[in-house]
Amino acid sequence: MSSAATAQTLDKNGQEIKAVGFKRFGFDSEVALDVLRSLYLRPHYAPATTEPKDAAIKADSEEDKFSLFQSKSIYYPETHSISYTTLSRFPPVKLLPPSERKRILVTGGAGFVGSHLVDRLMILGHEVTVIDNFFTGSKTTVSHWIGHPNFEMVRHDVVEPFMIECDQIYHLACPASPPHYQFNAVKTIKTSFMGTLNMLGLAKRVKARFLITSTSEVYGDPEVHPQPEDYWGHVNPIGPRACYDEGKRVAETLTYGFQRQDGVDVRVARIFNTYGPRMNPADGRVVSNFIVQALKGEDMTVYGDGKQTRSFQYIHDLVDGLIALMNSGESRPVNIGNGDEFTIGEFAELVREIVEKVQDEDGVKRERRVNIIYKPMPTDDPQKRRPDTTRAKETLDWQPRWTVRMGLEEMVRYYKAKMEEGSL
Ligand SMILES: NC(=O)c1ccc[n+]([C@@H]2O[C@H](COP(=O)([O-])OP(=O)(O)OC[C@H]3O[C@@H](n4cnc5c(N)ncnc54)[C@H](O)[C@@H]3O)[C@@H](O)[C@H]2O)c1
Repeated sequence: MSSAATAQTLDKNGQEIKAVGFKRFGFDSEVALDVLRSLYLRPHYAPATTEPKDAAIKADSEEDKFSLFQSKSIYYPETHSISYTTLSRFPPVKLLPPSERKRILVTGGAGFVGSHLVDRLMILGHEVTVIDNFFTGSKTTVSHWIGHPNFEMVRHDVVEPFMIECDQIYHLACPASPPHYQFNAVKTIKTSFMGTLNMLGLAKRVKARFLITSTSEVYGDPEVHPQPEDYWGHVNPIGPRACYDEGKRVAETLTYGFQRQDGVDVRVARIFNTYGPRMNPADGRVVSNFIVQALKGEDMTVYGDGKQTRSFQYIHDLVDGLIALMNSGESRPVNIGNGDEFTIGEFAELVREIVEKVQDEDGVKRERRVNIIYKPMPTDDPQKRRPDTTRAKETLDWQPRWTVRMGLEEMVRYYKAKMEEGSL
């Protein structure tokens, strides 16, 4: 078990974070942090030399608590091969009465954000169906639920219609990082437009509540700082980012079209930069880039002069916000993000410091201190981005709790473990 699992995690007010989520709008989303961590800060296999633990052991010690629900797959170093097994026991989920148990569809549920949302909804005792085409997501992110009676995973592209009985739809399916959404720009627009059209059609047909994960990119390169939801944005409609930015803008337009015309019960979350374990390390986003470069002892690349600012939100805060929004009565767009602003240059230094701290704690020797180097800025990269989260505070009573430092420490440990496993 990593030492991060036992170290205290403090929130912005210096209070220890033992659980995430809260009881609000008649929906209890609280889950112990330890339980969630046991799903992502865990080794994915045991080396062939160690005897896998018996899954039926009692969770007496801290160590046992974390190994109880781990896959017992075995790694053979000589052949660099892995023998997968399924879990013999699933993580415990709440036993909800049918009146409280919801049937929830999560599109893009095998991706970074989706998998954390799925973990939370499953532990809370709901029935969860994931649809995903695995373009950027992976079955491994939710493999610990495969076979569970409350869980179903379907390989499906949201560009095609999909029918299912459900009460709530979290519509996340869409690549989120620039290299991924620019890989096939036309497909990204199709996913945003047709995918959202199909999911709204489903919501209308089965009278499900529909939440779309929109983005701060709808504000483009903003002239207003920080950005409130009423700001209409400053987007280049033909630039390389347009397939995503304009895709999400039209997805929002569709969402409110279905609300006005057909009375569909809609929620729109405008998500700002979010990071955390299970982020695809090759997705080209700044947090994963910096951590992976620093862990590998490579120079860290800052694009531009490093003075452009960004804010970074930890995944658990986002999931809290999404669940609160879904269950609230707020149908206007709501920004969900962390307002703590860093210049990219400062952020690179913070990541380097945290990587060094974790390496020192684990007794890892560095050959040299990594350098921070500067390269030209890509087209249309916004200079400033920071959420105005007044609406989320007023209507959802939601505010980010995680400091960037605490979130980064967890994420560094996650990537470090992946590197040691040889899967990074
Ligand atoms: N992570 C962030 O910082 C951030 C910021 C703003 C908005 N968002 C939004 O949140 C959502 C999730 O983002 P993420 O960071 O988890 O990205 P991700 O790429 O990790 O996850 C997206 C998931 O959607 C799936 N997908 C893509 N196209 C699909 C299609 N046509 N049919 C079915 N599945 C498809 C992918 O395979 C993947 O599992 C996206 O809608 C994204 O726009 C994320």
